[in-house]
Amino acid sequence: MSNNIEIDNNANTDTDTGVVYLVGSGPGDPSLLTVKAKQLLETADIILHDKLPGPAIIESIPESKREDVGKRAGGERTSQEYTNDRLVELAEAGKTVVRLKGGDPFVFGRGGEEMEHLAAAGVPFETVPGITSAIGGPGVAGIPVTHREHASSVSFVTGHEDPTKEESAIDWEALAATGGTIVVLMGVGKLPAYTAELQDAGMDPETPIALIERATRPSMQVAVGTLDTAVDVRDEAEIEPPAITIIGEVAATREHVSHWLEQTQHNRSELDTNEDI
Ligand SMILES: C[S@@+](CC[C@H](N)C(=O)[O-])C[C@H]1O[C@@H](n2cnc3c(N)ncnc32)[C@H](O)[C@@H]1O
Repeated sequence: MSNNIEIDNNANTDTDTGVVYLVGSGPGDPSLLTVKAKQLLETADIILHDKLPGPAIIESIPESKREDVGKRAGGERTSQEYTNDRLVELAEAGKTVVRLKGGDPFVFGRGGEEMEHLAAAGVPFETVPGITSAIGGPGVAGIPVTHREHASSVSFVTGHEDPTKEESAIDWEALAATGGTIVVLMGVGKLPAYTAELQDAGMDPETPIALIERATRPSMQVAVGTLDTAVDVRDEAEIEPPAITIIGEVAATREHVSHWLEQTQHNRSELDTNEDI
């Protein structure tokens, strides 16, 4: 996809053109879809999705109405360019289109790129926020991302890039200095690198951490430890993507509440499968 999309606010929006809804699915439990998201899934002509919304939500959509634009057989990813063009093509054919994304479309979800592409193409669109895994995930595990006694700020970070690369977009040293909560998305594989980086930057090795896999789904897993033990904790619990890492004093809150949470977590959907996002 080109990085230089010209936004044309006067783009001629043909009345026969359909509408694209950029919809967040939330972290995976279908009961956490917003009312609007649910209505749109029921009424749209076609839904373009990847794997992140999870099987319970995806399989509730009739097969004839869904198109997978995530990873294809063999692990190859559908290009962003293809997805952008497909959204425009379907809207120009007069369809009501839902572009369904895990969590919130604008938190590491490429929603911004797709929105700009639609605007440049003169396609009417609307955005429908979803519960991001970065806040809702810790929440269901008994971890508030802010807490009056422990954290007055929170940073959301991608763990996808290599922290040791020469021009990292993430300043781990600055993050360590905030004293606030750090929530890392897409950070299972690079956990050894960024936990080391944070300790090198002076963060206390005893800082509590939590890893949450498949938050809100039936097979949700939570593993807790410290910055120093994080990698062992990950390996022992066999944490795999999709998972988030929470770093900061708030991660210890879970131990005070988990007994009560476990009693209410039995009513999740039974549908679940493996995916690697
Ligand atoms: C491409 S990002 C998309 C984030 C998404 N837009 C959101 O707001 O949650 C994918 C990452 O989100 C996180 N993630 C999404 N759903 C999750 C869930 N149910 N449990 C844990 N992590 C999740 C994982 O870190 C995963 O690698």
